[in-house]
Amino acid sequence: MGEVWRGFMATYYNEKTVIYLNGEFVKASETKMDFYSQSLHYGYAVFEGIRSYKTVSGETKIFKAVEHYERLKNSAVALNMPYTYSVDELIDATYEVLKRNNLQDAYIRPVVYAPANMSFAKNTESFIVIEAWEMAPFLGDKLLRIMTSSFQRPNPKGFKIEAKATGHYVNSILASQEAKGKGYDEALLTDMNGCVAEGPGANMFYERNGKLFTPPLGNILPGITRATVLEICDELGIEVEEKSFRVEELKTADAAFFCGTAAEVIGWESLDDVKFKKEWNDTVSRQVQLAYKDKVEERGIEAKRQRGTKAQREVIA
Ligand SMILES: Cc1ncc(COP(=O)(O)O)c(C=O)c1O
Repeated sequence: MGEVWRGFMATYYNEKTVIYLNGEFVKASETKMDFYSQSLHYGYAVFEGIRSYKTVSGETKIFKAVEHYERLKNSAVALNMPYTYSVDELIDATYEVLKRNNLQDAYIRPVVYAPANMSFAKNTESFIVIEAWEMAPFLGDKLLRIMTSSFQRPNPKGFKIEAKATGHYVNSILASQEAKGKGYDEALLTDMNGCVAEGPGANMFYERNGKLFTPPLGNILPGITRATVLEICDELGIEVEEKSFRVEELKTADAAFFCGTAAEVIGWESLDDVKFKKEWNDTVSRQVQLAYKDKVEERGIEAKRQRGTKAQREVIA
C-alpha cells in the first residue's frame, strides 16, 4: 500500500503530491486557499467523493466518473454557484492527477469553492480543486455496530438535500462523533418525519426474506452506490423496494448494510445493540457486496454467475 498509509485512514498528501487547481497541475504543499472564502466561513462549497480502481485488466478506471461529475454540476447549480467545467475536462484532469501521483486504487475528492466574499451575495466565479489519495474502505471491512442518532438529517425545506454541499456535513460530523463517542462504529440518522434516512456518509438497505428495502429519494443524498446496488439487484434478480420505514421495523430485519463510494458495501452486525437475524454470509446482501466488488474491478458476469445462489444463477444464465 506504500508509505503514505498511517493506520486506518490515509495521510492525504506529502511534498510530492500533485493536485488539479483551476486548470493547472500543482504541488499540494505549494498551494494556498483564500481565508476570506465564502466556503470557509459559511460551508458554501460542493464536492464529490469518487473512487478509482485497478481493474482485473490492470488498468485504472474511475468508477461512475460521469455520474459523479454530473452530480457535482447539479450540486453547484442547486447552490447557485457559477459552474463552467465540462464532465470530459474534469474526467481527463482526474486521470492525470491519478497518473501524476502514481495512484490506481484511489479516493478522489473534487471540491468547487467560492471566492472571498463575506456577504451572502452570489459570486461571479467559482474555483475547483481535485485531490486524490489512497484510502481504505471508510467504515472498515468488519460488520458494523450502528446506533440510531439523536440527530436527524436536515429538513429538505431548509437545504438542497440532493446537493453534496460541504455545509451539510456538519450534521454528519455531529452524528458520527456522537455514535463513536458512545462506542458504536457509526450512526444511523432518521429524517424529519422520524423515518430511516441514511448514515452520515452512506445510504442504507435492509433485507427481509431475500428482498431488499431502501428509503426513497427526497430526504437523502441520491447515492451513486445506492443506484449501483439497485442495478446489481436487477442483474442478480434480487427483489428490491424503495419505501419509508421506521427504526423499529429495521430492527426486525434479517440483515442491513451501508453503501457509498467511500464505504463501498458494508454489512451491519447490530442496530442499537439488537443483532440482525441472519449470518451475513448467508444473505443476499452479501451477494450484493461481492457483486459490487466485481463491478468496480470489472470482473464481469462470469464471477457473478459463479458466486450467486442457484436461483440467481438461473436469472443470470
Ligand atoms: C450523506 C451521504 N449519503 C450517501 C452517500 C453515498 O453516496 P455515493 O454512493 O454517491 O457515494 C454519501 C457519500 O457520498 C453521503 O455523504
